[in-house]
Amino acid sequence: MASRYHDVYGAWRADPDAFWREAAREIDWIRAPEKIFDAQAGVYGRWFPDATCNTCYNALDRHADGGRGAQAALIYDSPVANAKRTYTYSELRDEVATLAAVLQDLNVTKGDRVIVYMPMIPEAVIAMLACARIGAIHSVVFGGFAAKELATRIDDAKPKMVLTASCGIEPGRVVKYKPLLDQAIELASSKPESVILLQRPQETASMISGRDHDWAALMSAAKAAGKTAPCVELAATDPLYILYTSGTTGVPKGVVRDNGGHMVALKWTMKNLYGIEPGEAFWAGSDVGWVVGHSYIVYAPLLHGATTVVYEGKPVGTPDAGAFWRMIEEHNITALFTAPTAFRAIKKEDPDAKHLARYSTKSLRTLFLAGERADPDTVAWAERILGVPVVDHWWQTETGWGIVGNPVGLGLLPVKHGSPTVPMPGYDVQIVDEAAKPLENGKMGSIVVKLPLPPGCLPTLWQNDARMADSYLAEFPGYYKTADAGYRDADGYLYIMGRTDDIINVAGHRLSTGGMEEVLASHPNVAECAVIGMKDSLKGEAPLGFVVLKAGVERDPREIEKEIVALVRDRIGPVAAFKTAVVVDRLPKTRSGKILRGTMKKIADGDEWTTPATIDDPAILEEIGRALDKKGA
Ligand code: COA
Ligand code: AMP
Repeated sequence: MASRYHDVYGAWRADPDAFWREAAREIDWIRAPEKIFDAQAGVYGRWFPDATCNTCYNALDRHADGGRGAQAALIYDSPVANAKRTYTYSELRDEVATLAAVLQDLNVTKGDRVIVYMPMIPEAVIAMLACARIGAIHSVVFGGFAAKELATRIDDAKPKMVLTASCGIEPGRVVKYKPLLDQAIELASSKPESVILLQRPQETASMISGRDHDWAALMSAAKAAGKTAPCVELAATDPLYILYTSGTTGVPKGVVRDNGGHMVALKWTMKNLYGIEPGEAFWAGSDVGWVVGHSYIVYAPLLHGATTVVYEGKPVGTPDAGAFWRMIEEHNITALFTAPTAFRAIKKEDPDAKHLARYSTKSLRTLFLAGERADPDTVAWAERILGVPVVDHWWQTETGWGIVGNPVGLGLLPVKHGSPTVPMPGYDVQIVDEAAKPLENGKMGSIVVKLPLPPGCLPTLWQNDARMADSYLAEFPGYYKTADAGYRDADGYLYIMGRTDDIINVAGHRLSTGGMEEVLASHPNVAECAVIGMKDSLKGEAPLGFVVLKAGVERDPREIEKEIVALVRDRIGPVAAFKTAVVVDRLPKTRSGKILRGTMKKIADGDEWTTPATIDDPAILEEIGRALDKKGA
């Protein structure tokens, strides 16, 4: 089938308002949009400024009451907790409506923030949707972050309530959430009024009387009393959630998502980008703590009337490298969406895909990859073993959905390994030089998107329009700066090659080396430091820290290196995967004092490097190389 992509993209370009007006018909509005885009509102304009709606209604009630009540809405499968559960649309709506009433009873109303700090269990999804139902703004914090990171988010979002569970389960260890939460609340200057905690069988958390409430007790009391909360009417432009993501400093950015534009964009992608029909099972093997989890575990599949999957496990080790194939067979999965690192992990453990022979994956039509660069070897391997198209697509927390992809529903375009293919409607993607001048095909430059961003993308950062403008819109006037670099080929395919800032991507997780440097610098023996992302065959990149000790420190450098590794785990969390610190005598700098991180990265990666002309003392680069050799890094 010839792809309709070029026609559809052309139609959007010719009349964006008409395109989005048509896409908006897929949503059940309370007051339908008359105006599609208001260029004068907000930082760069706002979508559907006069419409009202409720996202939870579109995700649950309209299916529960519209003929899909008995269809599976959510399948939970946890090899680590040895548990499985399915919720129909009716059941999920009822759970959500009850929890929403519980939140209201505890004084949570429209516009209040609620932090969700939960593992991959259905209650995390129920928590998010309950907030959406009553117009409370959820902010989910990934379980692999440490107390201090959680405290930073609490101080920025100022939540009235925190929803949590007693623990998460990582292979071989139970991660106790409550001590982390208590410590975070202690550290934070903004204190939530209440906490609702779900006790899991693996760990019983202690409760603080007056503040902490038991999830199960509140829910059964509310059910016994027949309490449910209706969907609240919200402006399309009201915030649905805040999701914090790494910025260039230790202070994360609170990406805001609205209600109306978000629904319109995500609903459009389910059919046109992912090629999914309502009723089919769509599995995003991510975590609700990340944007992929927000968009494609929670909102998009449910808005579309599909079945979503909450998987609490890993691609390998839970129990083996056949875990994904078991999931596909058992739950009749039509499309799997994960990060390339998951497939690298499977390939490393089972290069001949022997586990695949034990399962049937015939339900699978497409594998989608995102979150980091999809290396051609991994893509080719996945294509070979699964025999289905492998579709890379590129996006960011900020955009909430694919900027560049291969639109399966419009007809697949030829796949080129190493490229996530072409811009989606809504995105006018350009490659520019420092002066914002478009570059010719094949030339590497900064990737920018012409304003306005489409529906679903961030309208702003939480209560910080100035940081929004400064971080994304100031450097290239008239454009959104993606902070990714890449190029376009003669066929219009884009190639995303890496970040232009200090963000690194470790196992599909976005981390700030600047944030890690702040932690290293806080060690009492450290005079100065630099963190770079070193190539890693499994995780894509791994952080590597260099530290120079203060004059007069006589301690064993190996001890200090160990303390630094522990410090990052303690302050940022295990997810930082910071395992290597190296004490060096000096850091290489330019004559103006700028640390030459790029050259250090090349040395660490074993790539060819040349001595920068501006370097202060070239001998330092040799010292760095020797220190790494000694460390075996
Ligand atoms: N809660 C607490 N700790 C967590 C956690 C969570 N939710 N998630 C990860 N961690 C811990 C891990 O246990 C690990 O701890 P360790 O240092 O004690 O081993 C550490 O954080 C680093 O985690 P990760 O980088 O994910 O490494 P891993 O070895 O546990 O797993 C992969 C590697 C490739 C299997 C895994 O990263 C993966 O499945 N990634 C692909 C999917 C994905 O999550 N993509 C994200 C966005 S699409
Ligand atoms: P996050 O906000 O966590 O989703 O991370 C977004 C960043 O991950 C992007 O800015 C890219 O650097 C990287 N990224 C995501 N998807 C891809 C992809 N398909 N190809 C290359 N890089 C990607």
